[in-house]
Amino acid sequence: MLSEKINKIRNEAILQIQSAANEDEINAIRVKFLGRKSEFTSILKGLKDLSPDERKSVGQLANSAKREIEEALAQKGQEIKQKSFDFAAEKIDITIPAVKMKRGHLHPLTQIQNELEDIFISLGFEIADGPEVETDFYSFDALNMPPDHPARDKWDTFWIKSDGEQKDKILLRPHTSPVQIRHMENHEPPLRIISPGKCFRNEATDAKHEHTFYQFEALMVGEDVSVANFKFIAEQFFSRFFKKKITVRLRPSFFPFTEPSFEFDISCTVCGGKGCQTCKGGGWLEVGGAGMVNQNVFVSSGYPRGKYQGFAWGFGLERLLMMRNKITDIRFFHSGDIRFIKQF
Ligand code: DAH
Repeated sequence: MLSEKINKIRNEAILQIQSAANEDEINAIRVKFLGRKSEFTSILKGLKDLSPDERKSVGQLANSAKREIEEALAQKGQEIKQKSFDFAAEKIDITIPAVKMKRGHLHPLTQIQNELEDIFISLGFEIADGPEVETDFYSFDALNMPPDHPARDKWDTFWIKSDGEQKDKILLRPHTSPVQIRHMENHEPPLRIISPGKCFRNEATDAKHEHTFYQFEALMVGEDVSVANFKFIAEQFFSRFFKKKITVRLRPSFFPFTEPSFEFDISCTVCGGKGCQTCKGGGWLEVGGAGMVNQNVFVSSGYPRGKYQGFAWGFGLERLLMMRNKITDIRFFHSGDIRFIKQF
């Protein structure tokens, strides 16, 4: 019987398809059961010799058997394809470290500024800011240096041409002390501020002098602020900054805006005061100027004479960093030399 033959071929084909292991075997099975020379094809070819009734029933059976075999072939083919997918070649190792992005960082002067702001904030100070382009009044007159005062020579700076409307002369500030006045004009004691910022001076540059540099002003005012407070705050600050016990020494000096005035030194950060190469045997390192705020400065800021007292100091930020990091030339800071910057 033809129909039995067809069923047998279909069953046999499906069995073989199920156990096929690869694409080659699938193709061989397709040729064997559905190919031009297959038994199935010769059955289909013989259909024309059958009676019309037989042709119809056998024809239908043959078509559905062919479809079943084709579907089984396609399905198995798909399965084999998926199984043989080359996962190893497609693998991405997500644990391999990525190519590092080149990233810059803050300039050493910005780093040190942030560092000292943190220390002073923890000591109850506020950060005050002032303009780098200043007036003659805030830079000199208000700081007890009237026009023609000889002390002005010490702060020779760059003057800016006035447009004629400006009644006060303008200049690049030679120190951060003007911020004292600007802050006191708007605040009542007790007050504690620091003011780090850029300053300018008209001078020949060398390893210790630059025309553009950073200063760091401190001001503490109240009714009974004394030199003892200055010494304590200064020792606290330097000890935290250098991460070792530092003591402060005062020497008499002169600044128009303080009375009395001091130069202050810190115990040598290398030998602690015993005497070494860094401190040239003396045990002390010069840091900057300080003093008790002159009453004339309070008066210029709008305070009554004699009511308040306070201390102030000012020194170069670069100098502090040079001491701590053993930098030999101040001109490196603004050189823009990436080899210098990269070391911080
Ligand atoms: N402004 C001074 C300078 O540039 C430094 C200074 C000295 C600041 C004494 C002060 C001070 O506040 O009290 O040389």
